[in-house]
Amino acid sequence: MSPRSAGALPLLVELDAQAGRPLHEQVYQRIHSLIREGLLSAGARLPATRVLATELDVSRNTVVTAFERLAAEGYIEGRAGGGTRVSQVLPDDMMEIAASSMPRVSYGPDRAPSRRALELAQLRIRRWSESAGPVEPFRLGAQALSHFPARDWARLARRHWARPTTMAMDYGSVAGYRPLREGIAAYLQRARGVNCDADQIIITSGSQQALDLSARVLADPGDAAWMEDPGYDGARGAMTAAGLDVVAVSIDEHGMNVAEGIQRAPRAKLAYVTPSHQFPLGITMTLARRRELLRWASGQGAWVFEDDYDSEFRYATRPLPALQGLDVRGCVIYAGTFSKVLFPSLRVGYMVVPHALLDTMLHARILSDVHPPTLAQAVLADFIAEGCFERHIRRMRSLYRERQEALVCAGRQYLDGMLDLQPANGGMHVVGLLPPGVDDLHAADVASAAGVKVTPLSFFRFSNPAPDRRSLLLGYAGLTPEQIASGAERLARALEPLTRRG
Ligand SMILES: Cc1ncc(COP(=O)(O)O)c(C=O)c1O
Repeated sequence: MSPRSAGALPLLVELDAQAGRPLHEQVYQRIHSLIREGLLSAGARLPATRVLATELDVSRNTVVTAFERLAAEGYIEGRAGGGTRVSQVLPDDMMEIAASSMPRVSYGPDRAPSRRALELAQLRIRRWSESAGPVEPFRLGAQALSHFPARDWARLARRHWARPTTMAMDYGSVAGYRPLREGIAAYLQRARGVNCDADQIIITSGSQQALDLSARVLADPGDAAWMEDPGYDGARGAMTAAGLDVVAVSIDEHGMNVAEGIQRAPRAKLAYVTPSHQFPLGITMTLARRRELLRWASGQGAWVFEDDYDSEFRYATRPLPALQGLDVRGCVIYAGTFSKVLFPSLRVGYMVVPHALLDTMLHARILSDVHPPTLAQAVLADFIAEGCFERHIRRMRSLYRERQEALVCAGRQYLDGMLDLQPANGGMHVVGLLPPGVDDLHAADVASAAGVKVTPLSFFRFSNPAPDRRSLLLGYAGLTPEQIASGAERLARALEPLTRRG
């Protein structure tokens, strides 16, 4: 029987009386997952509660309770004489475009999107399912947006709009607004040891555009590209979209394992790295590894994409200067973003491109989105020039350091023996280790049902089989110490049955 048919439901719902979770919750969770994963499609008819209860060997009340919750949340609906069916429009679809992004209409042979586009729609990109709105503990990437100095921003924006010039409103430079490029170049030289002048800066629509352009400009479809594993889904997606053969390279305590990369794909054209603060593990790539990577890239004629997405947030020690500063052969493309330090909807990032590559990159860019919006760039340029930017970084650094301490402290108080939180030297999340035998995907599901969003590390792995499924990622930057403590307490209640010994 096809798994899409609800007639197969009893076979797909496995209950575990020892799991420590009520049976009705297990039934709810399983059916909920089957619907969200598309294994039970819209309109599929569910078995009668009595029939399902008999098949699963549970009381009818157990199934009724699970069905009532699914109905209350909008996943299933009952029709007079028609039994219970999976809803035509799922609650997730009403909030945002569906996480699975599988096309909902069937295309005829004469009009269909490309096969490549359909394949891309199946990539698991986290942003699809990330909802904006109230910050639940411990959603990855959430930040303290209410601390953004909106008044300063508004004052600078008003100044530009009071007398908008032709320059601000007409087409602008493909590489971006010159004063912003100058401000960024000066900041990168001073704060990150990046070796650049303003000509080399291209303003992008977030680092995602830098990734997209680089994947298309630096390699041809079919070329191999090294990707950190675990690693940033946005980077893996961009390389896949460009038709590259994405090769998983593992991370150890020194950063990307360059020798493994050389063994797996010696002739790769591109390597994606987060050397300052590996995403998501938080490891700093050692100097020896950086040199090894550059030696390989220059010997091989390959490119290195350095994603320096959050180096502003370092709490204990100064960050190592950027890898780009060590590059004497012009093989590193350095990318940064204002998404983490300011706010992500700004969609402004930048890349530093070797001189020889500038023209080619700009030609690709003009065919993509021509150039970024000038007024947003002009406001940002003033924000940097007037010192608001570095002042904001200093404030957020100390706020986030306190919040991380609050989380590690709450972990010790509530999560002892269930989740070992490792303090990090930077960033906006920490990694927690589950006890042996506890699966991170399952733990994240259970936490989610209790209203706590933790992200399983396995989500960011793509080698097969995943070597370790015991880590959870907990974002803290958007939460007050009180929210952190109550979130940790709730998480402990959810994890307790899974991690109970003996
Ligand atoms: C590793 C990494 N790079 C870059 C970004 C920022 O992306 P963007 O600048 O496109 O918002 C993120 C955001 O989550 C990230 O985690």
